[in-house]
Amino acid sequence: MNTNLSSSVPSQLETDCLVVVVLDRNEKDRNEKDKPVVTVESSDAAVREAAKDVISSGEVTGKTFETTLLHRPTGLKAKRLLLLGGGKAKTFSAAELRKLAGAAVRTLKSKSIRSFAFVVPETAIPSSQGLRAIVEGAFVGNFDPGYYKSDRNDKDQKIDAITIVVHGDAHDAKALESAMQAGRIVAESQNFTRDLVNEPSNRMTPTMMAERAKKMAAEVGLNCETYGADKIKQLKMGAFWGVAQGSDEPPALIVLRYDPVGAADKVHLGLVGKAVTFDTGGISIKPADGMEKMKYDMAGGATMIGAMRAIALLKPKVKVTAIICATENMPSGKAQKPGDVQIAMSGKSIEIINTDAEGRLVLADGLCYARQLGCTHLVDAATLTGAVVVALGYVNAGIFASDDQMYERFAIANKQTGEKMWRLPLDDEYKENLKSNIADMVNAGSRWGGAIFAAMFLKEFAEDTPWIHLDIAGTAWMEEAKPWIAKGPSGIALRSLVEFVKGWES
Ligand code: BES
Ligand code: MN
Ligand code: ZN
Repeated sequence: MNTNLSSSVPSQLETDCLVVVVLDRNEKDRNEKDKPVVTVESSDAAVREAAKDVISSGEVTGKTFETTLLHRPTGLKAKRLLLLGGGKAKTFSAAELRKLAGAAVRTLKSKSIRSFAFVVPETAIPSSQGLRAIVEGAFVGNFDPGYYKSDRNDKDQKIDAITIVVHGDAHDAKALESAMQAGRIVAESQNFTRDLVNEPSNRMTPTMMAERAKKMAAEVGLNCETYGADKIKQLKMGAFWGVAQGSDEPPALIVLRYDPVGAADKVHLGLVGKAVTFDTGGISIKPADGMEKMKYDMAGGATMIGAMRAIALLKPKVKVTAIICATENMPSGKAQKPGDVQIAMSGKSIEIINTDAEGRLVLADGLCYARQLGCTHLVDAATLTGAVVVALGYVNAGIFASDDQMYERFAIANKQTGEKMWRLPLDDEYKENLKSNIADMVNAGSRWGGAIFAAMFLKEFAEDTPWIHLDIAGTAWMEEAKPWIAKGPSGIALRSLVEFVKGWES
């Protein structure tokens, strides 16, 4: 998708469709049966005039994602005018705007429109921030998961070009240009991650994932090393290998390094991702119902690969290494069994109670390896537990943090990006559940607090290195389409990770 900046008067813009946001300025709640006070978020009198009749008719309420499409609007050079509801003016933010841009893309592409212009609303959001949110939302909305549909008509169509119309306060052309580029890089990286996650397991084996990482790294100038079973055994990654040993498909340990000149040597961020390209559960096999979804169990790893792409292109001055542990989790004659004991890379022994609790095993060795490579701060992302879905549903990802300062930094970054995450606890009392009769710990405990148990397990391997764990099991896959995003892979956490990394710039 092409992106263009324009500072022309919206009514003078020739485009297939001009999109303007309308807001409800009535501050009272809906249930008070008050009429909305709808305003067009552009100071262009001609645009307001064109929208006047349909607004005064009461047809337009400004409700979030409400769309009103006018053809041949009077006084405008645009062929169409789309009034896009943005909800209450009081609560309108960049996060809303990002979604609106996605909704505009999804609405218009389904009407065979290929290009349009979006007017940055003249609200409290600064132009460059609004612009960036629109670019991000538009790219995210343009993603279509129907890769293997053979009927072209059945395939979702895409938007080819978007023009973003900036207004009066936008003097600094350079800042605007760089905001647009940054939005584009981050959103394309998010879609790169979604590409990987969308692929089924027969088309995204650990080896193929390693190849995709290598190809991307060569394109953006990152260092990428990929290793197989030999290296995993040589590093004594007994927990990772315990999962990988049951599969005919070889595992892959993917290491991406970003080491810019001028970065402070005190900080070395480590991004560790779970990439189980298919999770059958192993010998503790999962029920058939819904098992097809376990192709997205590599989303954490795919997120880290996509984040590294964005980092390589945005070039923050901070050293970052990503470690992705890719394997299948299969039952077979070679598979690990409940009761087996594995010795992790750190030397700690693990009694395998449930072979379906495999993500924490591959991450245990990934975290240990990151520490060995000298990482000073660790973040992992993983579709780790069904329990996090029980706790937070499909709305918020779970965050766990061993260090409050690091958490604060992450929370600031997270807030900027509009991704929803909620912190869950790591009290020492939970450690009790890790006890094993035969080894240093078990890999699975009781049903209760399952997401916390998994995080406590990982903490044993992050040890004293400040660490954040993101459990994205409920949020990496959209169970249904939303106005702003298709059903399928979401690319959650990538934007927060990239913003977080930028925050460490020296
Ligand atoms: N990959 C799953 C977690 C998952 C569940 C991801 C739902 C996406 C959606 C993970 O490997 C798993 O199987 N976890 C088990 C752990 C249990 C056996 C202790 C779970 O959550 O049921
Ligand atoms: Mn599992
Ligand atoms: Zn899993």
